[in-house]
Amino acid sequence: MGKKLYIKTYGCQMNEYDSKMTLEVMQSSGDIQEVSTPEDADIILLNTCSIREKAEEKVYSELGRLHKLKQHNPKLKIGVGGCVATQEGENIFKRAPYVDLIYGPQTLQRVPQLLEESNKIKAVDVSFPIEEKFDLLPLPTAEGPTAFVSIMEGCSKYCSFCVVPYTRGDEVSRAPQQIFDEVARLAEQGVSEITFVGQNVNAYEHPLDGRLLRLSDLIEVTGSINGIERIRYTTSHPLDMTDDLIEAYKYVPELVSHLHLPVQSGSNEILTKMKRNYSRESYLEIIEKLHAARPGIKISSDFIVGFPQETEAQFRETIDLVNTVKFDASFSFIYSARPGTPAAMIEDDIKLPEKKERLYELQSLLDSYQKEYSKDLEGSVQRCLVTGLSKKADSRMQGRTECNRVVNFDFQNTQILGTLIDIKIDKALAHSLQGHIFSQEHIPPT
Ligand code: SAH
Ligand code: F3S
Repeated sequence: MGKKLYIKTYGCQMNEYDSKMTLEVMQSSGDIQEVSTPEDADIILLNTCSIREKAEEKVYSELGRLHKLKQHNPKLKIGVGGCVATQEGENIFKRAPYVDLIYGPQTLQRVPQLLEESNKIKAVDVSFPIEEKFDLLPLPTAEGPTAFVSIMEGCSKYCSFCVVPYTRGDEVSRAPQQIFDEVARLAEQGVSEITFVGQNVNAYEHPLDGRLLRLSDLIEVTGSINGIERIRYTTSHPLDMTDDLIEAYKYVPELVSHLHLPVQSGSNEILTKMKRNYSRESYLEIIEKLHAARPGIKISSDFIVGFPQETEAQFRETIDLVNTVKFDASFSFIYSARPGTPAAMIEDDIKLPEKKERLYELQSLLDSYQKEYSKDLEGSVQRCLVTGLSKKADSRMQGRTECNRVVNFDFQNTQILGTLIDIKIDKALAHSLQGHIFSQEHIPPT
């Protein structure tokens, strides 16, 4: 009889992609059925994140809850994968001895084998056989009109605060043919929007026919694949925002007018301490070039407040940068010391209430720009990708604008799933937009 598998995912899109691949690897190795609650499962896998302390602690609390399930069902297998697994390794067994297997982001293809081994011993594999991972991943099955495609793994930037280079290893780019095969296969199954994912996608570099292929080349080829209407990519680093990539915004219409480009801070002193290797000025220069290549492009970002010894004046420079660039929906975090990173050695003299105040001020400001952009969309016509039915059980459907806002509109015809249609925006709500179909031109008759 088949086994029931429950996978819980924490953290970034890379982890979402990895969880989907883990499921596919498991299904290709035996009779596996995915279930949506841990109580129903024979095997539970946690795909973890260790980017901030909070994310890590969440994993240990979840393990505490799962322990109870295992007490009732000793045959239950519990596995910990992802970045906490690499960082903590066998230490996880000390805090949670009921865990059966530990695997890293680069060894998820070995999970069926590790599960087998765990019948005899506690199984651990957190090595970095990254080429093997790319080679062994099965071709994915589509789940709707949008899909992630991994183009590279790891990061070699070693920002002073970040744990990723230690948990996912250095940058390794995936062979272009594998990427194009995956995109083509997804397109055949009705996917029209591809998001290239990786820790640092614009550092992509792979030799092909005597030259080095870059992200801009992947974008150009993908744009010409039949059925692909939209291309996104995340996350990118300002240092690798090269002219060829900026130029792609001029000649690849499938590339959306929206870019997530983490800046972290508006202060040059802090950027140097973070080892980001760009300045506030060079970041602004990139933004200017992007606007010239693609007028109206929206930029979102990541910010860290309360980096060790960040002064009030340095924080003001971040606020000032937000007012200059007017970022769209962004993420901001309180600095969290990560074991083994250089920043964790710097004395952190800012009190938590002060950090929280800075975060609150920054988030309120970011929020106001996000709302302003949504409001600006009222009355405009937006090309939207139809992604599904509205979450509420009514007769509405859901789409996404280029800047990734959810739009609900009155209509029900599953034939338009995955197509781009023009929607007139009637109202901007707090977390979504409301609109109606502007032109019936692309809509097949029912
Ligand atoms: N590759 C991305 C970063 C991935 S991590 C880049 O180019 O920057 C996602 C975000 O988490 C980072 O952008 C950063 O804002 C935040 N982050 C990473 N390490 C952190 C830490 N130690 N404390 C707080 N936030 C952190
Ligand atoms: Fe982390 Fe910096 Fe890489 S934030 S993922 S080390 S670009």
